[in-house]
Amino acid sequence: MPCPALPDGFDFTDPDLLQHRVPLPEFAELRLAEPVRWIPQSGNVAGFEDEGYWAVTRHADVRYVSTHPEIFSSTLNTAIIRFNEHIARDSIDAQRLILLNMDPPEHTRVRQIVQRGFTPRSIRALEQRLRERAAAIVAGARALDGPFDFVTSVACELPLQAIAELIGIPQDDRTKIFDWSNKMIAYDDPEYAVTEEVGARSAAEIIAYAMSMAAERKQCPAHDIVSTLVAAEDEGNLNSDEFGFFVLMLAVAGNETTRNAITHGMHAFLTHPEQWELYKRERPATAAEEIVRWAAPVAAFQRTATQDTELGGKTIRKGDRVGLFYASANHDPEVFDRPDEFDVTRDPNPHLGFGGGGPHFCLGKSLAVLEIDLIFNALADAMPQMRLVEDPRRLRSAWINGVKELRVSAGE
Ligand code: HEM
Repeated sequence: MPCPALPDGFDFTDPDLLQHRVPLPEFAELRLAEPVRWIPQSGNVAGFEDEGYWAVTRHADVRYVSTHPEIFSSTLNTAIIRFNEHIARDSIDAQRLILLNMDPPEHTRVRQIVQRGFTPRSIRALEQRLRERAAAIVAGARALDGPFDFVTSVACELPLQAIAELIGIPQDDRTKIFDWSNKMIAYDDPEYAVTEEVGARSAAEIIAYAMSMAAERKQCPAHDIVSTLVAAEDEGNLNSDEFGFFVLMLAVAGNETTRNAITHGMHAFLTHPEQWELYKRERPATAAEEIVRWAAPVAAFQRTATQDTELGGKTIRKGDRVGLFYASANHDPEVFDRPDEFDVTRDPNPHLGFGGGGPHFCLGKSLAVLEIDLIFNALADAMPQMRLVEDPRRLRSAWINGVKELRVSAGE
């Protein structure tokens, strides 16, 4: 039965939607009435202006699509087209080199290599330094006079520092890497003055920087992750091109996502003061996962059908685009008790904020969870009386659930 409450022409990828209303009530309508629905006209979920797509809104269906890469490919159409447009100018083969856009068996090969940089041991090794960074970031914000923007003063820095620590980027180079990373993320939001040209140039700079790092480590291996990933190319490691694109991916995938999770988390705490009190008292280890469920910083990714197939009672044709709406799956009452409540003690919490569990499941999940834990612990220690000064200014985007500005005060 078609969903009666959804007006003709309604499009989940209209960038204005996420800007104003999250979670979207339309998701709840669709999950009930038509959980897999053809949306004929796309705003631009990933830049495909005039093509339609299937909106997949139930938790079980998002998981099914994510775990069947042989039916739903990541290669044919990509997850983040703007990102690829930037890169495509510099390398025809760019698509092939981005992990998110690969299918098995190529994906399996590269993922096995890069996973070596994300072992529990390598993440634990970062913990102490990141804890110090988090405390310093919060102390810096506390020292500001009067209300401040939480995004620029708190949420921005730790994700970038974490990636820089992980890869071993020297301190002196970090400012330029941070600058390139921020410029590279181009939006549907006209307020951002960064042009596609500047974004493309920044992406190329990051790739070139990482490739030269790789070349250096090949000459002179050290005890770091770069050396682990690139040292012995002939033994199945990454070549310099692959390493360059991998670092680029981290700068996109690990930066804005975590920044938005932290910002949404702060906003959720400030609008649910009883949860902030509970957090300060008990510091539940479950909080970071609930923040990601609630925030769904990546609202949607997409796949392309490689064959005709059935999903949710609909026939999906070979070549059709399929939008995976994590932001909807995370509120599916089939899976979550009180799905629209923010509850930092929620356990279990099988949310899909880091993906639907297939081969592309977020590589940086443990790092992201660590960062979120560290920053909120530091905030609870140093700024327990935080206050919301203004409602967040949200990002205009088709697939990133982002916040541009969140004005808060230390509240003392
Ligand atoms: C993939 C979300 C933080 C690196 C993904 C996917 C999602 C996601 C939804 C795609 C999953 C799929 O298609 O099935 C998030 C969120 C984060 C976060 C919400 C923060 C709260 C990070 C961090 C890093 C990272 C900190 C690394 C520093 C990656 C990589 C992939 C990925 C490399 C591609 C994996 C592949 O294609 O095999 N992430 N992510 N992410 N993420 Fe994250």
